[in-house]
Amino acid sequence: MNPDLQVSDDPAAPAADLLAGAAAQLCITGGSTPKVAYGRAAAAREDWSNVEIWFTDERCVPPDHEHSNYRMAKAALLDRAAGATVHRMRGELGPGEGAAEYGREYEAAGRPMLDLILLGLGPDGHTCSLFPNDPALAERERSVVGVETPGMAPLVPRITLTLSVVNAARQIVFLVTGADKADAVARAFSGPPDPSTPASLVEGAVTVLLDPEAAAGL
Ligand code: 6PG
Repeated sequence: MNPDLQVSDDPAAPAADLLAGAAAQLCITGGSTPKVAYGRAAAAREDWSNVEIWFTDERCVPPDHEHSNYRMAKAALLDRAAGATVHRMRGELGPGEGAAEYGREYEAAGRPMLDLILLGLGPDGHTCSLFPNDPALAERERSVVGVETPGMAPLVPRITLTLSVVNAARQIVFLVTGADKADAVARAFSGPPDPSTPASLVEGAVTVLLDPEAAAGL
C-alpha cells in the first residue's frame, strides 16, 4: 500500500482541512473518531453546494438511532453543510434491500469516482463494515453489499461499500486515534495485505492520519 503516514497530536485538524476542501464527490465514514473533524470541517466551509456526500457504511438501524452513522454525521456535519447533496444509506431497510438500494443510487449517479474517502479503522483491522475474513472482502462486482454478522459491536447487520469502490477513490484518508488501535495500525499499514486485517487490502493514494498512541506500533 505504501501509505503516507502522518503522526500528530491533533490528526483531526488535517482531516478537517481535507474534508472542508473536498471536491465534488466526498465519502464519509461512521464510528466515533471522525466526529471532531466533521464539526471543524462544517465550521470551516460555508458553501457545500458542489459537494455530494456519500457514506462508507451504515448500521442497520433507523436514522435517528443512537448507533446510526448517519445520525452522528448529521449532527456533526450534514446539518451545517449548506447545499450539499447527501446520499444516505437506509439502514432501516436491512442489509439486503438497504445495500441493493444504495447500489442503485450509486449506479444512477453514474458510479462516480470518489474524490476523497475518509475511512476509520477498528481494533480488529476492519474498515467500512468490511470485517476480518468476511466474504464481502472478495466482492468485486457489486459496489455495495449487506453484511449480516459484523465482527464487532454494535452487533447489528451492516451496509458497506466494497473495496471495488474504495480502492478506486482519488484520495483515501484514514483517521485513527488511540492506543487500542496501535496493533491494527501496524498490521494494516506496515504489514502485508491480509484478509484478516481488511484495511491492509486498501490500495491507492492512501494517507493515514494518526495520533502518537495509534502510531506506537509502527
Ligand atoms: C462503523 C464504521 C467503522 C469505523 C471503525 C472505527 O460503522 O463502525 O464506519 O468502519 O470507522 O469501526 O470506529 P471508531 O472511530 O468508533 O473507533
